[in-house]
Amino acid sequence: MKAKLERPRRGFFWASLGLGATLTLLGVFPTETGSSAIALTAQRATSGAALDAPHQYTGPGACSSTTCHGSIAPMTINRVKQNEYSVWIVRDKHSKAYAALMGTIGERMGAILGIGKSEAAPKCLACHALDVPESERARTFDLTEGVSCENCHGPAAAWLGPHTERDWKHEDSVAKLGMYDTRDIIKRTERCLTCHLGNEKKYVDHTMIAAGHPDLYFELDSFSAQMPRHWKDSNGEPDQPDGSDPWFDVREWATGQAVQLKQSLVLLAERTRGKAWPEYSEFECYACHHSIVPAEGSWEQARGYANRRPGDPPWNVARYVVFREIVGQVDEAGKQNLDAELSRVNKLMSELNPNREEVATAATKSARLTGEIARRLIAMQYNAALTLRLLQRISSDSGNISAQGEHCAAQAAMALQSLYVAYERNDKFQDSQQLRVAIGGLFEQLQVPSSYDPNRFSRQMKQVNALLR
Ligand code: HEC
Ligand code: HEC
Ligand code: HEC
Ligand code: HEC
Repeated sequence: MKAKLERPRRGFFWASLGLGATLTLLGVFPTETGSSAIALTAQRATSGAALDAPHQYTGPGACSSTTCHGSIAPMTINRVKQNEYSVWIVRDKHSKAYAALMGTIGERMGAILGIGKSEAAPKCLACHALDVPESERARTFDLTEGVSCENCHGPAAAWLGPHTERDWKHEDSVAKLGMYDTRDIIKRTERCLTCHLGNEKKYVDHTMIAAGHPDLYFELDSFSAQMPRHWKDSNGEPDQPDGSDPWFDVREWATGQAVQLKQSLVLLAERTRGKAWPEYSEFECYACHHSIVPAEGSWEQARGYANRRPGDPPWNVARYVVFREIVGQVDEAGKQNLDAELSRVNKLMSELNPNREEVATAATKSARLTGEIARRLIAMQYNAALTLRLLQRISSDSGNISAQGEHCAAQAAMALQSLYVAYERNDKFQDSQQLRVAIGGLFEQLQVPSSYDPNRFSRQMKQVNALLR
């Protein structure tokens, strides 16, 4: 196996913070096709045609008028910024998702997998474009536009007209007209994860990774910041009708953690019914893909192989190892319960040939439990004391988290960054600048994942911990 897997981790978003709108400089002039499309689709909606058939998609052009969502500068007069299209087309990688299929790596993947041109393969278009059947297209649009508005917000034909009316309610679009409720953080995360984790129908497995696909990982708050958000930061919290939640990112982080754990357990259970079992991408990648050094220098051997046969690849526990800290803050008994359930999944999965039925049962049970916790986390109050406690707890668990592998370290780094940013916005750390540098140091250590060193990472986490005052 390769000694090094040179694929730097992304997800580090200092750079995207505080970046103002550079759109005008880049000269984006959204098309004006929006208004006529609205008239057309409003007509469809009122004539009822869109109501009985499956809801239809309009493509992003229908949203891009400067008076709709294609404004160059953000507006301040209402809750919507109206520059969503401009942000998406210039700064959001989703608008380049189709183009990614045509790059050197994308095309080579198509050849390796024997699926022909990637940009024509349903296997790829499922996550890289708005690939809906002809019958669900309200007007002509282009797959080349990549992952666009309706991939996340749902088919727009029926609500496009009504949602521009004064006093029209988001809830009405959601209840009757096919809009997806991205305001609900649980549903929002589930939506992101259809592509950023995958499911039984569309997925990125080890075969695709070996052909060149990036390893999928996710964390709602970091990824939302990096996207970047085209909505007002504190928007969209269901229990905050005034739209102002100063701790929105902690809520996003905590709820997102629960949902990604739950969905990954659902996927694991689904995979037990698959042809390839065990599916390699369920494991900690760098258990297999690390550099081998003389025995004296091996951290794996120094760490030992708790609860598994030496050399069997361990299950990737990254979605749990940091999340359990927030569960512990909310409900200690719940944490013990979840600990017990997940160590069962972990033990089963870290055997050489995991028993499919047993894994499916244990994963399904843990998923249910995690779903219940998600509903508590979304409804909870967050504040400075809790945020600080979480930062302290996570950074003081440095030895344990670091030893579980690179994916766990990446989740810890993203968690510390998200919580730091939230705390700094509302309150201030004494050693703010040093902390920022120390957290940046965590990300630096993840640049070459196959040479990840848990001892160094753990030392860096301790440094973060010492600065939390
Ligand atoms: C389950 C959804 C899913 C499927 C199916 C999928 N992808 Fe992706 N792809 C993603 C996501 C999500 C990313 C971004 C990953 C990240 O940066 O975290 C991505 C990134 C990529 C990239 C890297 C783009 C860049 O800017 O560096 C390439 C190339 C790519 N995919 C090609 C393909 C090809 C070719 C196929 C079909 C064989 C395919 N993908 C199928 C979800 C998917
Ligand atoms: C990758 C997913 C994704 C894509 C693509 C996307 N959005 Fe969003 N959008 C979101 C999320 C998540 C939110 C925040 C939750 C919310 O307010 O619904 C949001 C919020 C919004 C809001 C604010 C809604 C409110 O009530 O405050 C508008 C308007 C919007 N998006 C329009 C667009 C338009 C127009 C496009 C295409 C040019 C687009 N979005 C593309 C995910 C997406
Ligand atoms: C329909 C599939 C799909 C959905 C839904 C989706 N994404 Fe993506 N996302 C992608 C693909 C594909 C890419 C890779 C694009 C590229 O690199 O060209 C991507 C890239 C990204 C990136 C850039 C990563 C990088 O390496 O820079 C971020 C951040 C991101 N998505 C966040 C989100 C968030 C947050 C949500 C939910 C609100 C979401 N995505 C929903 C498919 C999706
Ligand atoms: C059980 C061991 C095992 C696990 C776990 C595993 N792989 Fe692999 N991987 C392999 C083997 C074996 C090959 C084939 C190597 C070859 O043919 O040279 C491979 C090939 C690859 C390749 C193509 C070869 C290269 O270096 O470019 C990539 C990329 C890759 N794996 C990434 C990953 C990622 C990312 C994960 C975790 C999501 C992962 N692997 C998990 C064993 C594993």
